[in-house]
Amino acid sequence: MTKLRLDQTCHPGAFAQLEAQAFERGWQESQFEERPDRIYTSLWQADHCLCYVYGRIITDEVELWRIAGHPERRRQGLGLRALNAFVAECRRRGGRNLFLEVSHHNQVAVIFYRNAGFTETGRRVGYYGPGDDALLMCLDLQTTPLTTL
Ligand SMILES: CC(C)(COP(=O)(O)OP(=O)(O)OC[C@H]1O[C@@H](n2cnc3c(N)ncnc32)[C@H](O)[C@@H]1OP(=O)(O)O)[C@@H](O)C(=O)NCCC(=O)NCCS
Repeated sequence: MTKLRLDQTCHPGAFAQLEAQAFERGWQESQFEERPDRIYTSLWQADHCLCYVYGRIITDEVELWRIAGHPERRRQGLGLRALNAFVAECRRRGGRNLFLEVSHHNQVAVIFYRNAGFTETGRRVGYYGPGDDALLMCLDLQTTPLTTL
């Protein structure tokens, strides 16, 4: 099997393709911007993008905006590997906390984040629409040991 390769640059076309497979209203290519405050981490096998994470760093706070894995390659540890690399890059760039919002209906993602060390810090009722709340989650980048990711 071809080795996995880690990439930390922006690949709008490949990310938008994964978005279309993972979400009802996935992000478009134009929404993946190449800017100094952005952090991209993706895993590739040959020229296939298998998983990516995208976020923004503002001083020492990082927001995780998007994460998606290829539908046929889920539950193989790739999401965790991509997140692990993303966290390492956040730390390298001085991040202290990593924040995200996730629909409370997306239990797979909620379990994934909890298992990675995120804790729930709040809830925005109806944030995604009636009956669809956003859970606010946070990972302490200073104290969470990398080995748990
Ligand atoms: C969330 C997502 C990125 C996880 O990627 P993944 O590569 O499948 O995750 P991993 O294989 O690294 O899983 C790590 C752990 O997360 C949990 N997990 C992942 N998928 C799970 C599932 N379907 N059911 C229960 N737990 C799950 C498990 O604890 C798993 O560890 P284990 O397999 O040793 O039990 C992937 O499911 C995905 O792309 N979902 C669609 C997009 C999405 O919802 N993104 C989040 C929006 S906020």
